[in-house]
Amino acid sequence: MDIQPQYKPKLVGDNSQMPFRGRGIRCGRLRPAPHPHQAETNQKDFTVRFGLVQKSSKETGYSFSHTYPAFVREAYRVLRPEGVLLCKIADYIHNHRYQWAHVDLIQAAVAAGFQPCDCIVKVRKGPIIDPKWIVAHHSRRQHCYWLVFRKSDKCE
Ligand SMILES: C[S@@+](CC[C@H](N)C(=O)[O-])C[C@H]1O[C@@H](n2cnc3c(N)ncnc32)[C@H](O)[C@@H]1O
Repeated sequence: MDIQPQYKPKLVGDNSQMPFRGRGIRCGRLRPAPHPHQAETNQKDFTVRFGLVQKSSKETGYSFSHTYPAFVREAYRVLRPEGVLLCKIADYIHNHRYQWAHVDLIQAAVAAGFQPCDCIVKVRKGPIIDPKWIVAHHSRRQHCYWLVFRKSDKCE
């Protein structure tokens, strides 16, 4: 499922309002854009390449953490009991601060009722670098996570 029809997904739709009846799906996967803070810019590179779609404002901290609760609530609703949710997520630096996107996602998922079961580190060939970053004050992000959740009170 993708919100943008031009990618020709099997289903066009918003993942915060999924057109599925509840408890039917065994395994779901979320693969959002890896660098949400890029949405504050008009850089087509990130907006188009990573499918940001929406922009994030100052009010939402230039992040997409505020979208996680609606998504994980829907994922919980459509998954069958013991169903698995896989989410690819990257942390990033913004406003001279480390932005804990994966922690925000775990907290939202736990609040929705999911059991957090695993965290797989995926290493990239190289860090993503924005040309406007002249001096690096933090280590370059060269990895992201696959978070594994289960709609259950146990992981196995
Ligand atoms: C990194 S791409 C992943 C593309 C593809 N689904 C995959 O997993 O290979 C992120 C995709 O998320 C889609 N997207 C962004 N917001 C969405 C939303 N609210 N609901 C569904 N899809 C969304 C974008 O259109 C973009 O194609």
